Amino acid sequence: MKSVQLFAASLLLSQVSARTFTVINNCPLTIWPAIFTDLNVAQNVPNHPTGWEALPGSRVSFTVPDNWKAGRIWGRRNCNFNSNTNPGPNSCLDGGCNGGLLCDPNTGTGLPPATVAEWTLQGDGNRDYYDVSLVDGYNLPMRIDNNKGCAKADCPVDLGPNCPDPLKGPFDANGFPVGCRSACDANLSGNPADSPNCCSGSHNTPATCPAAGVQYYSYFKQNCPNAYAFAYDESSGTALFACSSTLLADFTLTFCP
Ligand SMILES: *[C@@H]1O[C@H](CO)[C@@H](O)[C@H](O)[C@H]1NC(C)=O
Repeated sequence: MKSVQLFAASLLLSQVSARTFTVINNCPLTIWPAIFTDLNVAQNVPNHPTGWEALPGSRVSFTVPDNWKAGRIWGRRNCNFNSNTNPGPNSCLDGGCNGGLLCDPNTGTGLPPATVAEWTLQGDGNRDYYDVSLVDGYNLPMRIDNNKGCAKADCPVDLGPNCPDPLKGPFDANGFPVGCRSACDANLSGNPADSPNCCSGSHNTPATCPAAGVQYYSYFKQNCPNAYAFAYDESSGTALFACSSTLLADFTLTFCP
């Protein structure tokens, strides 16, 4: 084949074997979504910047490799990347990352509290796994949809205003809570290295870290039953969702659904 034909063929193949992800900001405020891929698990990354500004009502679409692993997308609130001489995690009230607007590919995970949408495509049993995680707390409502009829994962309500006092915050300039921390992150047990809230130390197995031992678990799970509300929430049956990878599902993440 001529090189032009080869190029066209490979372009077609790469398009066929990638998924389309769409991120919609349905919130009445500007947010700054971010993407992080654990490169220790796999090197395949979405074809999109690791951070961007999303105006109210805006949407972006991009392609994601069929075998994206340990990937996450979350939103950052109340960011200002200009007033900082060294933009980074503290450039936003929550969800900020190393790097500033563009999260560092190696260390740019979000600062809690942050609601996190997680994916592993082509995981065990050739299934696509996805969830909305509250393990790092909450900062924005979100929903993960797909175009193949697989279950939705979501936390569609604002968990800030009614957040239990010990977890509530951070707060914006008007005193409005833009987040709700996890009991682990809030250090309620006083010993994060060995805590039933963090499933750490002697509590680092599903058997030794039951939901009942996690403070305020029910606040998160009752309001957001289709979210991953603590480290071992799979036993709830409505935390981790899966779709056969052979369906090649496209996914939509909507903030403030
Ligand atoms: C957690 O709380 C304990 C007890 O107040 C304190 O000694 C410790 O430094 C805290 N740890 C973190 C990571 O904040």
